[in-house]
Amino acid sequence: MRRVSRFLALSLVALLLGASAHAQVAPLARTPVIPPATPILAHSGMVVAQESRAARIGIEILDRGGNAVDAAVAVGFALAVTYPRAGNLGGGGFMVIHLAKDNRDVAIDYRETAPAAATPTMFLDAKGNPDPKKSRDSGLAVGVPGTVAGLALAREKYGSGKLSLADLITPAIRLASQGFPVEDDTADSLPRAKERLARWPSSAAIFLTGGQPPSEGDRLLQFDLADTLRAIAQDGPRAFYQGSIAGEIADAVVKAGGIMTKDDLANYHALKRPVVRGTYRGYDIVSMPPPSSGGVALIEMLNILEGYDLAKLGRGEQSLHDLIEAMKRAYADRAVFMGDPDAVKMPIAGLLSKKYAAALRASIGDKATPAADIHAGKPADFEGQNTTHFSVIDRDGNAVSNTYTLNFSYGLGLVADGTGVLLNNELDDFTSKPGTANAYGLVGFNANLPGPGKRPLSSMTPTIVLKDGKPFLITGSPGGSRIITAVLQVISNVIDFHMAVDKAVSAPRLHNQWQPDGAFAEPGFAPDLLDALQRRGHKIVPTEPHTSANSILVTPNGYVGAADTRTRGALAAGY
Ligand code: GLY
Repeated sequence: MRRVSRFLALSLVALLLGASAHAQVAPLARTPVIPPATPILAHSGMVVAQESRAARIGIEILDRGGNAVDAAVAVGFALAVTYPRAGNLGGGGFMVIHLAKDNRDVAIDYRETAPAAATPTMFLDAKGNPDPKKSRDSGLAVGVPGTVAGLALAREKYGSGKLSLADLITPAIRLASQGFPVEDDTADSLPRAKERLARWPSSAAIFLTGGQPPSEGDRLLQFDLADTLRAIAQDGPRAFYQGSIAGEIADAVVKAGGIMTKDDLANYHALKRPVVRGTYRGYDIVSMPPPSSGGVALIEMLNILEGYDLAKLGRGEQSLHDLIEAMKRAYADRAVFMGDPDAVKMPIAGLLSKKYAAALRASIGDKATPAADIHAGKPADFEGQNTTHFSVIDRDGNAVSNTYTLNFSYGLGLVADGTGVLLNNELDDFTSKPGTANAYGLVGFNANLPGPGKRPLSSMTPTIVLKDGKPFLITGSPGGSRIITAVLQVISNVIDFHMAVDKAVSAPRLHNQWQPDGAFAEPGFAPDLLDALQRRGHKIVPTEPHTSANSILVTPNGYVGAADTRTRGALAAGY
């Protein structure tokens, strides 16, 4: 979830981090309340997504005999229409799939790539300093989109085979051409994105009228997007990556100051990758490998936490202290070691090992370790090597966990003329200069510098937790750097604190990403608890909610879906 308020929150951080760590926690001026999620029970399938029409389309596909992968692909195309701030054709993401028949887990990497002309210094100004305008607000920020290739690959390899790509795209075409009323999170987010969209006439023509965003209930029509979807339905991904649509995308990027060519689009490939695996208290954790840092950092944190008896401690001062300390250490490793696996060597086996986690745990005391005293660890086995999330399960136990994004809300805000396709500004996820931070405050080093064809490091963490080889919890979240810790807490809430999935999703979340050295606390924690953590040396920073973990728990009674209520409009649709 990308919000303008994120920038306000970051400025608040600067203010608050200067304050004494032992002062009482100052509350937010306006304290938003996280409404409780409503659990939905079903037996033959479940789709939990950030927008209700898209979630229902997933159910329609299951009802027509499609499997969870077919449903996820249809939801992915539908959200590109109904949830334009993050659903996309012009961005990228990651999908983790559990296949029930042969008990297999696979990952699809459809992360955007840097154009072939990208260089490590492309986001620096004349003085050699990072220039955020280049990495966030110009055509240079646009990565070659991966979503169309990724969704098509998922269907081709793992779909039921009963439904064609055109069958899965048709509902999205209908929504784009017939329109739908602007409501919920889209009604909330469009006014905040007004200025970013207004910069580009091609975007203003679709999302603004007379320079103003639509009112709640106004109809959003996207005729060009419908045509683009029709072309993909008819000719497959090549309609997007070759020919006139690719030409329009490359032209739009170049006019906006970028370096993308038609060849960059023609050369794009979504990739199958082996999932990363870990275990946590007898459960198997299956998640996304690099170029997302999500799965590795998640398992590293879970490995650290496994050494504490969190169930006995309960969700209180000691367990939250342990949680924050685990976060800091994993994010420090993320910053130093991780990047595109096809371009950098990473110590993945070491980072995932229980022995390494034990060494990190040994460095955790009763007081907060200042971020400045935490450095990347020495994992063994150095080896080669504003977003939306939806979770799907079908009657056979096939499961999909998918997170995809344009980076900021509405990405760059630029629609490629004549295509209806909003373009990402994902390349800000690269490190512009070693030791500097991206828009999420995530510090990076050499491993994540831009380069030709490289994929920027991500935090997306689509995850499936298995019990006895079968899906138990399907989860993930948007939220930039906060994604990984959101997923961590949903898993811990369910496994350690035995919360029902709706409670696990709604419970307030903490986040610490090592740099800046602050523990961001959503509304809902008892003030006494935050004060106690502050007394231990944690710099507690009250923050508005920024994540949305649409999750499914498999229970003896059936599938329980929980749509996160941190933004309006998410739906758990049962079947
Ligand atoms: N663009 C945010 C991420 O991929 O982590």
